[in-house]
Amino acid sequence: MRQKIVAGNWKMNTTVSEGIELVNQIVGKIEEVPESVHLIVNVPFTHLFPVSKIIGDIKCPFCKSKISLGAQNCADKEKGAYTGEVSAQMLASVSKAVGTVAGAPEGATGAAVEYVILGHSERRGYYGETNAILFEKMKLALAAGLKVIYCVGEALEERKAGKHFQVVENEIKEVLFNLTDEQMKNVVVAYEPIWAIGTGETATKEQAQEIHAFIRKTLREKFNALAEETPILYGGSCKPSNAKELFSQEDIDGGLIGGASLKADDFLAIAKSF
Ligand code: 13P
Repeated sequence: MRQKIVAGNWKMNTTVSEGIELVNQIVGKIEEVPESVHLIVNVPFTHLFPVSKIIGDIKCPFCKSKISLGAQNCADKEKGAYTGEVSAQMLASVSKAVGTVAGAPEGATGAAVEYVILGHSERRGYYGETNAILFEKMKLALAAGLKVIYCVGEALEERKAGKHFQVVENEIKEVLFNLTDEQMKNVVVAYEPIWAIGTGETATKEQAQEIHAFIRKTLREKFNALAEETPILYGGSCKPSNAKELFSQEDIDGGLIGGASLKADDFLAIAKSF
């Protein structure tokens, strides 16, 4: 059985205190989330430390295991003179640092930064991240022990021209096909059609299922049976009113949620839509 995942991508939204409030609201109602569903919150870099502490402090072990922390990007270099960049190693080091804060109990650690989003169309489009750059990031993230949510998806003109399968296939082959099976076990794929992101327009369940099945078929070429275990998430104006029909599709294993992840009740309602 593939893991069902509902992941929030907060993008560049919320101040630190607003982010703390949001995650506290989610954690406060986490018992409502079905046992089979795993939540991930991918927060801005500035929020990682306090959110790691909040998740680390969840008392009930079952509830704690239901939510993971993620970042939204990492550098394509290991370390050094790259002003403004944040490395995969730095992300992996957050949880231990939580225990070093003055007054922290002996042995305390925060929740690990377990995931990082790579290949989001906003990174590809606004910051020129190519498949070659993304492969460098992918290698460093996996080597640091992070799991990767790798995004693919076509623009509206590409879909209108019938090129969406080709675009997605290239994004998969040029990055994921360079990974070993062991590395691929730590990758989640997210299909996010660019024309559906933040537009209120959603792919229909048929459109989404068609391309999710295509992604799985493509993964099978290289990874064989492992492709059946790889979660493939849908992203693009996913909300409480459409999540159920999307998640009912055979190859849709959950969602990568932008706008609707900024309201705890909407995010939780989506998580309850399987
Ligand atoms: P929206 O849910 O706001 O359309 O964003 C989707 C997305 O880009 C998630 O990564």
